[in-house]
Amino acid sequence: TDTYAVIGHPIEHSRSPDIHALFAAQTGQDMHYGRRSAPVDGFAASIQAFFAAGGAGLNVTLPFKQEAFERADTLSERAQRASAVNTLMARGDEIHGDNTDGAGLVADLVGRLGTDLAGARVLILGAGGAVRGVVPNLFAAGVARITIANRTRAKSQSVAESCLRMGSIAACGLDEAPFDADLVINAISAGLAGEMPALDDRVLTRARAVYDMIYADTATPFLRWARDRGVAGEDGFGMLVEQAAESFALWRGIRPDTRAVITALRGC
Ligand code: ATR
Repeated sequence: TDTYAVIGHPIEHSRSPDIHALFAAQTGQDMHYGRRSAPVDGFAASIQAFFAAGGAGLNVTLPFKQEAFERADTLSERAQRASAVNTLMARGDEIHGDNTDGAGLVADLVGRLGTDLAGARVLILGAGGAVRGVVPNLFAAGVARITIANRTRAKSQSVAESCLRMGSIAACGLDEAPFDADLVINAISAGLAGEMPALDDRVLTRARAVYDMIYADTATPFLRWARDRGVAGEDGFGMLVEQAAESFALWRGIRPDTRAVITALRGC
């Protein structure tokens, strides 16, 4: 039985083991997928121990995606572009790093929700590791312009600068976000805990939909904020399942049916 796990801190609430268990059952794969907690300063030792013991692959979540990028022996092109890794796999004696977040977001937005990204203007709130991972895929899906608005302006500038070759991208502070976006995507992790940072309502002026990369059992603060202003949206549970499917396909060479899993775990 090949062994996989999701590694992060904290990790207790991760839904990844449930998702991969359903994928494995659906595709008849003989594998086990668990949770692995690493101390914040013990990520490298933890992954070394996992692979030394014969582990086959890891999903990496907060706060280790950037460190996984630094620790991997080899990197896929999309992991290099993202400067972040969410999927590790044993390749001989080496640990290979990949990033499936961007593919997961676009699969959910376009494949499941039918969002038309061709020519769209997208506003992204936040500039963390998750954002670097999704920008290339959004451009590849036909997005015309991306603006990254972040509390710390220097960070949105740094993300935008590293993505300049991919398409038309701009950076600003949260209080300078433009009012003409067709789609507003939240990647501010504070949304998880409860509070939405103050945002000008006018950023929703032209928005046809919003998407929260954060997910929760009840509507996230960002989704509630948008809904109160007449704009509907989805949270990132679909993205979570889609990025998991992409990792699963890398590891096992077989693509699971994500819709069935989203329905089973969410009942929608
Ligand atoms: P991830 O890798 O998941 O994107 P991260 O790297 O920790 O997570 O990034 C978190 C993002 O949420 C950042 O854009 C952060 O803004 P700063 O760069 O200014 O820190 C944003 N964020 C977190 N708490 C916030 C808050 N209370 N108000 C506004 N933005 C917040």
